[in-house]
Amino acid sequence: MGSGPSNPEPRVLQAMAAAPVTIDDPACRVLFEQIVTLGKEVFRAGDSSVVSIAGASRAGIEAGLASLLEPGERVLVGACGHFGELLCTLAAKHGAVVERVDASWGSAVDVHAMVNRIRVTRPRVVAIVHADTSTGVLQPLEDIGRACRQAGGLFLVDTVLSLGGCQVDVDQAQVDVAIAGLQKCLGGPPGQALVTISPRASEALRGRSTSPTSAYLDLRTFEARWSGQDVDSGEIFGPMLFAVREALALVLDEGLTERWDRHRRASTSLRAGLAAMGLELYADPSVRVPMITLARVPPGIDEASVRSRLLLDHGIEIMSAFGPLRGKVWRIGTMGLNASLPSVLTLLGALEAVLAGCGWSFERGSAVDAALVAARDARVSWPRPARCQGRR
Ligand SMILES: Cc1ncc(COP(=O)(O)O)c(C=O)c1O
Repeated sequence: MGSGPSNPEPRVLQAMAAAPVTIDDPACRVLFEQIVTLGKEVFRAGDSSVVSIAGASRAGIEAGLASLLEPGERVLVGACGHFGELLCTLAAKHGAVVERVDASWGSAVDVHAMVNRIRVTRPRVVAIVHADTSTGVLQPLEDIGRACRQAGGLFLVDTVLSLGGCQVDVDQAQVDVAIAGLQKCLGGPPGQALVTISPRASEALRGRSTSPTSAYLDLRTFEARWSGQDVDSGEIFGPMLFAVREALALVLDEGLTERWDRHRRASTSLRAGLAAMGLELYADPSVRVPMITLARVPPGIDEASVRSRLLLDHGIEIMSAFGPLRGKVWRIGTMGLNASLPSVLTLLGALEAVLAGCGWSFERGSAVDAALVAARDARVSWPRPARCQGRR
């Protein structure tokens, strides 16, 4: 229950046990087509295509930046956390000129500031993280996407944390390249990136005057292969692609809106429980994501020893934090399989025991009780939309 990888779904792990297919096997084409169809639906990607790249999620992010930007071109990055910094680092490595609109950690990037900068500087690419795992903040996208398109730029968005956990709508937000991994809210293992490519991005890739600064992470090759052309983008990782297909199918079997609601309910219960123990939450409440919760470490409590007791005594992993938050907050994930009341109650019960053992004073049992009450209220107040039909 940390910042990811989260526990994979058993159905996804089982899918990985099948014998690998090779690229020449006709079954492989079917697998690609199924992943593209499912991926487009999960990303709500409209006319965009979908490809998958073997590697960490950042392989997808790096492929996007290296392929959309030629050396010397300008990218405007909205940064308010560790993964916004990653966008800057990767773009700079590929020779782009990085301009930034910064926000303090715990807040979202100011949309008006982004829109104004886009209008004035007309960057080639605008890049931003939708949900930054380092701060637990959700970034509004639509106005930025609209301004980017009006200014003729390409919009790249990191949806690694958000996809499958809260609303992601690539088409509506006019995102040209969105990137995700399996290991957060999609219920799979890390190791395979998913990337959407809009028709505009595709045209831009074809119109490049130079080759991308990476040979492997060239989106043009992946796009060609995933759309059925016989190009050499390397051998495929069969078991991982079975995992991708199963994870996406599982999300749609549950229903996108139902899955988002489940994540919302889980974090609501968790937060009620943490508050009952007297723990304060980090980040602007108006933009907190439902997939991860950052709780401030109370005075006099050692951050690392609480995590270590949780892991050693209770078998539960929560995470420390990056940069300025290190030692000051815990990051607790309610992602995928763990966006559930039993996971939340198990964690809260364990945390009660560990914090009481550290001398933190609160009413024992209050966290679990508060989480249960919140779960009941949440169920009453959140309507259950109809299930997605005829998925598989
Ligand atoms: C929002 C976000 N973007 C990007 C990444 C990078 O993912 P990976 O470590 O798979 O490259 C992470 C990983 O935690 C993340 O949370």
